[in-house]
Amino acid sequence: MLTQEENDLLTRIGPGTPAGELLRRYWHPVGYVQELTDEQPTRFVRILGEDLVLFKDKSGHVGLLADHCSHRGASLLYGRVEERGIACAYHGWLYDAQGNCLECPAEPAGSLFHLTVKQRAYPVRRFIGMYWAYLGPEPGPEIPHYDVWARRDGQRVLRLKPRLDCNWFQAMENSVDPAHLQILHQDVGGNGANRRPANTTRGRTDDVEEFEFVEVPCGIIKKRSYRNGLVDEHPLIFPNILRNANRTQMRVPIDDTHTNVFIVEFHPGPDGSGVDLEDERPEVIYEAPYKAPIDARHPFARFRLDEVPAQDYMAWETQGPITDRRSERLATTDRGIVLYRRMIMREIERTREGLDPLGVVRERDHPIVDTNLEGSLREYVGRRRSG
Ligand code: FES
Ligand SMILES: [Fe+2]
Repeated sequence: MLTQEENDLLTRIGPGTPAGELLRRYWHPVGYVQELTDEQPTRFVRILGEDLVLFKDKSGHVGLLADHCSHRGASLLYGRVEERGIACAYHGWLYDAQGNCLECPAEPAGSLFHLTVKQRAYPVRRFIGMYWAYLGPEPGPEIPHYDVWARRDGQRVLRLKPRLDCNWFQAMENSVDPAHLQILHQDVGGNGANRRPANTTRGRTDDVEEFEFVEVPCGIIKKRSYRNGLVDEHPLIFPNILRNANRTQMRVPIDDTHTNVFIVEFHPGPDGSGVDLEDERPEVIYEAPYKAPIDARHPFARFRLDEVPAQDYMAWETQGPITDRRSERLATTDRGIVLYRRMIMREIERTREGLDPLGVVRERDHPIVDTNLEGSLREYVGRRRSG
């Protein structure tokens, strides 16, 4: 059970909020490379409660600027891209990718007024087929070379899940909630899914010997040991990523009550070793919605429950736009959730002190970060083979 203040501390991510400041210490994906084209060179982005426009100018520079033009607030989504940047459609104020105002066309000849104008701008990088943004204080860190993202001995596939219409923290707490697998997903997922449980209340709970949670350098490993000797381990990569099997799921807050879920999947194989991570352009799959109507919230939407992700979305969204943790009743299997909340609070404190929080990497050419992908792939393939 948390107080309202503690719940706000963990969940609110707008500018100036403690968790918002923590999340602003990391790079986050904001779109796919193929989403900016000559025909459609601008794209609206809401991330961490900020309204922004991603654009590619005619010289190929990609920028991320505040949506509302500094002049009188029209949206830059409708700006015209030029060689030098993007010109607001309303009166033509021209901005480069760093937010410098290069021209205010209607001002008198020789005016230097434009030099006093600065549009809010964030750095953007292209990496494994996505544009990534950094919204924190300079100098920014590097994008970590997690194995799923940085290995070159195979191919990646990108997936965008349907928009999650609730707070990001609900999805993250689920990543350290191993007990739900044997109940919520008893018919469709996980170890032993090929046999129907005799008792639907207990589901497949009795297959499990124990749950363990261990803090590791990249976050938390949650471990399920089964009575038949199998073990599965899924790392929560701090602060907002789940790694299961061969994929990472990044839960990127759109605002306090909506979340984007970007998936990067890695398939080991002979191809890909010649590709630069900056130039890589994997296939992108947009996942079908899990509810109808797609923009409605519980109880005005109905979820389909025929696959694991749809079941998870049902559980997370029906907790409410932001779960009211003042009335929760945590039990023994929720100790991973308690550990994760403590780590978030601890790293918020580090951020406040001006230190780099957990998982921030500053060396440009750092080695690949092992998140135990190999172990998970063996476990995953082994389980598929054993049915
Ligand atoms: S509102 Fe953008 S140039 Fe005037
Ligand atoms: Fe789940």
